[in-house]
Amino acid sequence: MEPLLFSFPGNEELGKQLLERTGCTAGKATLRRFPDGESYVRILSEVRDRAVYVLCTLHQPDDKLMMLYFFAKTIQQQGARSVTLLAPYLAYMRQDKAFHPGEAVTSDLFAQLLSGWVDAIVTIDPHLHRHHDLAEIYRISTSVLHAAPLIVDYLQHHINRPVLIGPDAESKQWVADIATRAGCPFTVLRKERYGDREVKVTVPDAPQFRQHTPVLVDDIISTGRTMIETANHLREQGIPAPVCIGVHAVFAGTALEEMHQAGIQSILTTNTIPHQTNELDVSGLLADWIEEREGAA
Ligand code: R5P
Repeated sequence: MEPLLFSFPGNEELGKQLLERTGCTAGKATLRRFPDGESYVRILSEVRDRAVYVLCTLHQPDDKLMMLYFFAKTIQQQGARSVTLLAPYLAYMRQDKAFHPGEAVTSDLFAQLLSGWVDAIVTIDPHLHRHHDLAEIYRISTSVLHAAPLIVDYLQHHINRPVLIGPDAESKQWVADIATRAGCPFTVLRKERYGDREVKVTVPDAPQFRQHTPVLVDDIISTGRTMIETANHLREQGIPAPVCIGVHAVFAGTALEEMHQAGIQSILTTNTIPHQTNELDVSGLLADWIEEREGAA
């Protein structure tokens, strides 16, 4: 029997594309909230002995987790053969150590939690910094897909003579890979973070880049401070406002407006999180992964 794909609220658009691109059938469920805010879950499809995919991207995770837990456990109780979570954005990856005594290392705790709920997780460019592999913290099967080919394709078709700029050491893994594939120069800056919204980015003088279009590439745009700080320093050097590419459009609060106010107009992201800046479509990456896995099953 074909696998079932359930799309959580807010994931319908990507879910529709996955249904069109794969042999999955749309799973039916009622997912809603009671008036008091508690979660209601009812599975309407027959899931016994079927492979089940659950599409639920995990930005603002605390709002979603109870419903996801009830859903995954109910599917398992009803005899699904496997439950695979498709989480294009994987949350809680940045607190990967106790920076101060007593702090929770939430990347590890979150991994332990999810590992008890589903059989496998598929995600796109998780923030791997001190952990080099999800297998270091997840006890279940994990698969990591990469948005790099989408970004390379965009650069090759839309940007004249790009120079890629990674704002911090962590970004080197993405920036170096994309630059190599796209055949363009890159540089990686130094960033120090002093608080949630306070970052200092050091931009060395790089006159050789003045003839290029600066493209900032980062995995996450959250408060936007990293992008804004970098753009400000570039401007001080007479370098024009950069094109900003983020894989995950977290955009906390008024981040997008603040980036616009800082003179950054060209901002684009992938649709791992639905957002008005989405220009790069990850549905092909996920669909290919599902098709390959089902072909091998
Ligand atoms: C952290 O190191 C990430 O790679 C991003 O640089 C960071 O999450 C961006 O956050 P913000 O937009 O709040 O500066």
